[in-house]
Amino acid sequence: MRLSRYFLPVLKETPSEAQIVSHRLMLRAGMIKQASAGIYSWLPLGFKVLRRIEQIVHEEQARAGHVAMLMPTLQSADLWRESGRYDAFGAEMLRITDRHGRDMLYGPTNEELITDIFRAHVGSYKDLPLTLYHVQWKFRDEVRPRFGVMRGREFLMKDGYNFDLTMEDALHAYNRHLVSYLRTYERMGLQAIPMRADSGAMGGDNTHEFLVLAETGESEVFYDSEITDLKFGDRDIDYDSVEQCQAVLSEFTSRYARTDETHDEAEFAKVPEARRRTARGIEVGQIFYFGTKYSEAMGATVVNEKQEQVPVHMGSHGIGVSRLVGAIIEASHDEKGIIWPEGVTPFHCGIVNLKQGDAEADAACEQLYAALTARGLEPLYDDRNERAGGKFATMDLIGLPWRITVGPRGLKNGVVELTGRRSGESIEMTPEAAVSRIAEIYANI
Ligand SMILES: Nc1ncnc2c1ncn2[C@@H]1O[C@H](COP(=O)(O)OP(=O)(O)OP(=O)(O)O)[C@@H](O)[C@H]1O
Ligand SMILES: [Mg+2]
Repeated sequence: MRLSRYFLPVLKETPSEAQIVSHRLMLRAGMIKQASAGIYSWLPLGFKVLRRIEQIVHEEQARAGHVAMLMPTLQSADLWRESGRYDAFGAEMLRITDRHGRDMLYGPTNEELITDIFRAHVGSYKDLPLTLYHVQWKFRDEVRPRFGVMRGREFLMKDGYNFDLTMEDALHAYNRHLVSYLRTYERMGLQAIPMRADSGAMGGDNTHEFLVLAETGESEVFYDSEITDLKFGDRDIDYDSVEQCQAVLSEFTSRYARTDETHDEAEFAKVPEARRRTARGIEVGQIFYFGTKYSEAMGATVVNEKQEQVPVHMGSHGIGVSRLVGAIIEASHDEKGIIWPEGVTPFHCGIVNLKQGDAEADAACEQLYAALTARGLEPLYDDRNERAGGKFATMDLIGLPWRITVGPRGLKNGVVELTGRRSGESIEMTPEAAVSRIAEIYANI
């Protein structure tokens, strides 16, 4: 992409309505525009990041053996009357009446709809286990939408649902989700800590929330500092192996880590004092096992080996896809702007032409652009007639992790400059070496 042809409406001033850094930076970098309270348009740069996050979610779900589909945003109220949640959900649910007077709603979550699909098509234990998921917009009429996309009213969520014959099988599905979520967040450059959570309106008591530590987080969290040393890394894991998934769960959840809702002072006191931490966190996902709550209420049964009709064991598992865009920025920025982790960056690198219109500099930039593109990389070339300072400020603000700077002086010596956004360090090298270096960096991402 060439910046002269892109749509990147960066703001010079700091928007006064934004209280936290991610919201400010998303507005300043031209990523989003508020449409109404808690509802946003995703401008091109923001949309690219959203899609990258969604892509990682899909890849990791596929790796875990989960099946993608798509359910609608509008749902019939009748299904929610069956589960008893139509009244229970309260004012957070956006209720709509169609022209025939039918009660509809904008889905805040999908347990009812997926259970209805399951009961219509699955009747035998032989079709289990099954985990279906989608990435779809949700609406919750939050009392206080705030912090930009972090607490929106309309937001993008990955929600997945497992159907299993027995509680043991469903708990394996729970563990499998925990493992796949650890991988998912790490690929986004995030440490998200599974913390024991409160099951609230969903029911059931096996549940963990994934929290990213950040001062601006809405949840108060309490944990054993040892937990932040854990890394999932590049482990090869067999998602069908009950033992392997169980071992990961044990490793990542055996130390004290809880949100304020489940915090227990007496238990926390058992952690050595030097390792006790109190902090704030952003909830970026949650997994639940809730047994037969919906399957019993809605008649989602299968025949087991003894030809008996039994309700299936279920769980639901969510990732806050749009919230993650803000959470990643909260975890990765400096005073100049965003610093995207390579896994989610909207463009792989920036190209800054220090002297637009100079035949040699222009040609060198074009060559770099073509060479990077040929390697399957997506550069953002700042080809505008702007001062170098302005170009650097824009690149720093939008946070591309790598920048190649091209100017007549360097070209005389056959070199360009490669700069890392995070370290701020620059190295001179030939254009070919810069391309190879960037290709290398992204080869394992
Ligand atoms: N209003 C919202 N705006 C953006 N993302 C949200 C919002 N509500 C929930 N999410 C995201 O969707 C994920 C799964 O939804 P879940 O039902 O667990 O939300 P929740 O526990 O009600 O969230 P919260 O406690 O933050 O209101 C959450 O972990 C969060 O990342
Ligand atoms: Mg939650």
